[in-house]
Amino acid sequence: MSDFKQMLNERVKETEEIIKNFLPREAGFQRTIMKAMNYSMNAGGKRLRPLLMLETSRLFGFGGARKEVERFMTAMEMIHTSSLIHDDLPCMDNDEYRRGKKSTWAAFGEDMGVLAGDALIVEAFSVASGAFFETEHPYRVGKAIRILAEKTGIYGMIGGQVVDVELTGHALPADKLDFIYRLKTGALLEASMLIGAVLAGAEEEDCAKISRIAVNVGLAFQIQDDILDITGNPETIGKPVGSDERNDKTTFVSLNGLDKAKEEVKRLSEEAISQLNSLNRENPFLEQLIRMLITREK
Ligand code: IPE
Ligand code: IPE
Ligand code: MG
Ligand code: MG
Ligand code: MG
Repeated sequence: MSDFKQMLNERVKETEEIIKNFLPREAGFQRTIMKAMNYSMNAGGKRLRPLLMLETSRLFGFGGARKEVERFMTAMEMIHTSSLIHDDLPCMDNDEYRRGKKSTWAAFGEDMGVLAGDALIVEAFSVASGAFFETEHPYRVGKAIRILAEKTGIYGMIGGQVVDVELTGHALPADKLDFIYRLKTGALLEASMLIGAVLAGAEEEDCAKISRIAVNVGLAFQIQDDILDITGNPETIGKPVGSDERNDKTTFVSLNGLDKAKEEVKRLSEEAISQLNSLNRENPFLEQLIRMLITREK
């Protein structure tokens, strides 16, 4: 195994240990909802968003905010997981497999799928707000919570999903598709890297650069997701292939073809890496993590 793969496995494990500390106990008359939340949170996944947050804060030397970062890593994974639970619902993409298991709604029913997704978003803000009580930098924590809210809601992931769902079955011009990708996928990736930088106390100018890097990472990530929806192995990606075609979605691939899409993933990722290098800070693992997105098969 390459040094990078080994390090990646270790960091994913470390991330999962962190997340476990904040998951709800399955107790009380309402325990079905805790079970549904933990079912999807524990199902695996690449943990890319918390990893990007951790590595971006490492890039800026953590700024004494390691504990705060851990709370926001968990909050981010909760919000991302909620977006997947809702995205799979019959009223949205109607997919029955996720992270190698039955989708939350398929395992717990549609009603619990809706509630578990809602609950994870709320729980995320509860976990994140705990950082106020542990930090020496409440202003940074406040800023991070604002970013998390903005990039989750109507100006972020949810806003993107709205346009995605509304325009399903319609031919889309490239600029609308770009809007959807920047919001539905880019926004949470941007928030992940930006929050890592903000909590570590990065300068305003560096935060702006981090946002630009993350936007490119987000676009590359969604285009690769579209590619894998066609060329991926369902066992490897842990979700069905052909979902986009079945739902009559316009994607970067359906508009431009597979070869152009692969070229675009490479171009965007290389652009992100060169922007990262222009920060004149060292985190070779972060660079490799972004590079991995070009060739990822899951
Ligand atoms: C899937 O995200 C949804 C998109 C935004 C494309 P991931 O591919 O990161 O899913 P997990 O977390 O690894 O399951
Ligand atoms: C969804 O995009 C992005 C989210 C906000 C969940 P997709 O619908 O392509 O994600 P997958 O392929 O189901 O993971
Ligand atoms: Mg979708
Ligand atoms: Mg989907
Ligand atoms: Mg997809």
